[in-house]
Amino acid sequence: MHKSNLPIGVFDSGVGGVSVLRELVRLMPNENYIYLGDSAHAPYGTKSHDEIFAHAVECADYLVSKDIKALVIACNTATSVCIDALRRKYPQIPVVGIEPALKPAVKAKQGSNVVVMATPLTLKETKFAKLCRDYEDEANIIPLPCPGLMELVEQGFTKGEKAELFLAECFEDIDTMSVDAVVLGCTHYPFVRETVEKLMPNAHIFDGGEGTARQVKRLLEENGALSKDCDQGIVVFENTLGNDDINALARKLLTF
Ligand code: DGL
Repeated sequence: MHKSNLPIGVFDSGVGGVSVLRELVRLMPNENYIYLGDSAHAPYGTKSHDEIFAHAVECADYLVSKDIKALVIACNTATSVCIDALRRKYPQIPVVGIEPALKPAVKAKQGSNVVVMATPLTLKETKFAKLCRDYEDEANIIPLPCPGLMELVEQGFTKGEKAELFLAECFEDIDTMSVDAVVLGCTHYPFVRETVEKLMPNAHIFDGGEGTARQVKRLLEENGALSKDCDQGIVVFENTLGNDDINALARKLLTF
């Protein structure tokens, strides 16, 4: 089979990576996708580096065994931990990850207050420390770990009172009116964007999903691997929990 006909593999610790998948589908609707949610091992963001490494490599191995033409790590946490190792392991395909969209947030307004919402592990890793060093002279960067928020999304609470109460507590120590930008540095968080906007009325919201999708397209184009099919592609949802409910939620979030 010509590689342009192969699917793109996408994984995350759960349904969050669907926020990246929907950008991929928007940009390349005629591609086929296999989405793997590792909900059985979620959350990643409060686990150790080594545990996340092991789970993420298992997801990647599974998708590569399905003969994919590109691998998308639709998880900031897993990207921080293992993107270099996965690129070394699979030199034959593009491996694209996601990181907090700090650069566009800082560049939007000099000297601004930028809140970076992410998992505890993402904020602890050297990748994020380096990102902060690159921009710390241009903005007041406020890292905000949000343990528990991904679980809320996994349970389908993306809007309403429960999401609002949870986020209000996360923002307790922040002067929300003075925040200029919020970076959604976990792929689960775009699904609570509306509530973040409500609680941070002066902030612009940044999320890396679209940039990641553009990068995947660029690399496939370079490799001559973009689908030539004119029909709408297929998205196959799989989850390590192996139950239909979680795949139904993922499918619903694709059109969120
Ligand atoms: N969606 C993931 C991320 O982008 C991680 C959530 C979790 O498993 O803690 O970081």
